[in-house]
Parts: sequence; structure tokens; C-alpha cells
Amino acid sequence: MRKEYVVSTPPMGWNTWNTFYTEMNEDLVRSTADAMAETGLLDAGYRYLILDDGWSLRERGADGLLVPDPEKFPSGLSATVDYVHGRGLKFGIYSCCGVHTCGRFPGSFEHEFSDARQFAAWGVDYLKYDNCYRPGTVSGEMLYRRMAMALRASGRDILLAACQWGTEDVHRWIRSTGAHTFRSTVDIQDTWRSIESIAQSQMEHLSANAPGCYNDMDMLVVGMAGGGCNPEASLGGCTDEEYQTHFALWAMMGSPLIIGCDIRSMTESTRGILTNREVIAINQDPDGRGCYRLPTYASPEAFILVKPLANGDYAIGFFNFGDAPAHVELPFWDLGLTRESGLLLRMRDCLAHEDLGPKKEYFAAVVPGHGCRVFRCGLAEG
Ligand code: GAL
Repeated sequence: MRKEYVVSTPPMGWNTWNTFYTEMNEDLVRSTADAMAETGLLDAGYRYLILDDGWSLRERGADGLLVPDPEKFPSGLSATVDYVHGRGLKFGIYSCCGVHTCGRFPGSFEHEFSDARQFAAWGVDYLKYDNCYRPGTVSGEMLYRRMAMALRASGRDILLAACQWGTEDVHRWIRSTGAHTFRSTVDIQDTWRSIESIAQSQMEHLSANAPGCYNDMDMLVVGMAGGGCNPEASLGGCTDEEYQTHFALWAMMGSPLIIGCDIRSMTESTRGILTNREVIAINQDPDGRGCYRLPTYASPEAFILVKPLANGDYAIGFFNFGDAPAHVELPFWDLGLTRESGLLLRMRDCLAHEDLGPKKEYFAAVVPGHGCRVFRCGLAEG
């Protein structure tokens, strides 16, 4: 019997895919685990180290079990998992509900229960479960239900990260399968256009997020800066301003925060964005409420997101998707704060780490093109 939730806030971690594609090995895993522990990422909450597609051989063994690639993992997968656990992290792995994974490695279709037992025996804590090569005879909903059940039967608490890409109305049914997160979008790329279109695609689903099953907007590209060997993701690169906006959007919208850059060589500004505890606290807020969105009348390409927090505060983000700076104004009336209340809004800038003091009736700021401002606000006596 499970005593506590497998996950009670959006999971945070690092995944091989964005930067390393299928080119992973145990040295990469070990050095990344070291970097997670030594650069402050683990302390900031990033706990899962996740292998994506490409960790196994292309065929199952004669016993029907998955075989970790011995060239990539010469010490064996268990030893690699032990190393990760020894650094205080949790270990994640990847499979697929179809007959193959998207990279044509073996999928778990009709091997769900034995694969889940194998993952549990290795000490796996997280399973990313993809959606490629599905037989036409069984629905995706059934296949996610099936793996959720197989993991529950495995004897180990394993987080199920459904990678469903947002098709088939996934927002409506995924929570009832038992999955803990669900990918709701196409694959992210290291470009501003990709960040913007993924964020836009989830604006109509802002309330689909809630504790126990989180809307996964795909891994972060923060800090990739055009690097990596993934021909699908490693494109172009973004400015630090754009990476900051990406991180703030994912944080406010309650997405899992799964890093995709090479953290062993990340810059100080990448580290600063990824470890901003005030922004992370908004993402990890125990109430896990969705945001609402307010338009800004003066700048049609800018908008405001508001998220009520567990301690009575509000997280407020100003975002500008336009190329030019935007004047963004928030009348507090739009939050529900009337003049008759006599109350003020105490504001703190979570990016500058600065108290702005109590504000009356409205707050306005100029937000650079593709930029953002993030505030934590509370009601104060006038
Ligand atoms: C895609 C998935 C990516 C990555 C890739 C691996 O379907 O969305 O995040 O896991 O498969 O082949």
C-alpha cells in the first residue's frame, strides 16, 4: 500500500534528449549526476536524472527482457542507477506504449508488466512513456492505464510521465489513467518560436493542471544556446532574456521543470535562471493551482498570468511575446481588488530579488520584446 503521493509538486530534473539525443553513456550520467549535486541544482529541487530514448539494445533478449546497451553502460544499468542514487538523486528511464520507441528501440507494448518489474528491480523512480508505433487495435488511453497499473504492481513507487503530445483530448482523460504528468505538446526546439508556440498552445488549458497529474509542456531548452547533437531540438538558440521568459512561463503554468542543456558546462546566467528559488517556489507551490490570463489593452502581444498561491499570495507574470518593448499595465481591479477594500498590493520582483513596496490601484512596467517580469504579491493594509 502506497503511503504518500509519488509526486506532490511538478517534478524537476534533467533529461538526456534535448542535447544528447541517443548518444548517452554511463560517463555522461555520472558526470551529470555530479554536476547536479555540485552546482546547486539538486539543492534547488532538481532531483530526477532521466535517460531518454536510446539506452537499450535494438532487440530484446531471448528471455523477452530489455537489454541495456553494454557499450553505453559497460558497468551495467544497476551500477549506474546506484551511482545516481548515491548522489542523492532519483533515476528516470524511457519506454514507449507502442511496439517500438520513437527511435525504433523496443517498446513496452504487451511487455508492460515485465518491463515495469525490470525497471523496479533496477531501482528506477520515473518512467517517461512515449506514444510512437501504437497498434491500431488498442486506444492510447488503455495503454497509459495499463502501464500505470503495471507500475503500481511493480512494488516500487515509480512516477509515470506520459509523453502523449497533447493529442486525442489528453487533458480530459489522462488524470484518470493514474499518470503523474502528461506531455501536452509537440517536441520543443531551441528557438524562441518553439517556446512561444508551445506556451500559446496551453493557454486554453491553464486550469487542466492540478496536484497529482501535471501538464508537461516538454523539457526546458534554457542554456542550450544552439548546442547539442539532437537534429530535432538543437536549433538556433535563444537569448538569455528569452530563456528567462521560457523558464518563467513553465514555472507559472505549473509544468514539470526538466532541464535539457549540458549542465556540466552551463554558464552562470543559465545557472541563475534555473536556480532562481523565488520562481521555483511559484512552480512548486503546494496548492498547485492553475493561472488565469489577463489581456493588456495597450499591447496586444503582451499578457498577464496570475496564480493564487497557498499562503495567500499571488504570483503575477507580465509576458511580452512581441518583438518590441511593451507597456503592460495591471489595474488591481482585474485581480478582484476593489477600491472600497482599502487594501494595497505589496509587490516583490522575483527576478531582481527586490521588494517594490505596497502599490495602490495599479502597477505598470515596460517589458522588453520576448521578455517578462515576475512578481510575488500579497494584500496589505492601506
Ligand atoms: C518523442 C518525444 C521526445 C523524445 C523522443 C525520443 O516522441 O516527444 O521528447 O522522447 O520521442 O525518440
